[in-house]
Amino acid sequence: MSAVVEEVVLESEDGMVSVCRPEDLEPGWGEAAWLGGKQVALFRTEGEDFFAASHHCPTSGAKVMARGILGDQTIDGHRVSTIACPLHKEVYRLDTGACLSASAQPLPVFPLVERQGQLWMAGRP
Ligand code: FES
Repeated sequence: MSAVVEEVVLESEDGMVSVCRPEDLEPGWGEAAWLGGKQVALFRTEGEDFFAASHHCPTSGAKVMARGILGDQTIDGHRVSTIACPLHKEVYRLDTGACLSASAQPLPVFPLVERQGQLWMAGRP
């Protein structure tokens, strides 16, 4: 027997989708979330920055990115937060999704903003 669960997605007038509260995410760690019928990886860095990306590794398609290794690199004089895929360790920028370690496909990323104690994601994954 299976159950059908209806997903309720809160959406603002400007098209932002409610994701979670900032304190729901652990610093230095990622979490996978089911949002709008897609798997999304949410990250909170040790520096208190928040990012959202596809949970699918663009290299293999494996649903693993929320279990990746958070880090950072200096690029053009700026510190940039990164995520390394936990399987083959390709490294992606969390702000743009660009792959830094190979000429691989970029990781789809989604802007996150904090409003009134809630994280909101621009668009749907
Ligand atoms: S599975 Fe992601 S880099 Fe290989």
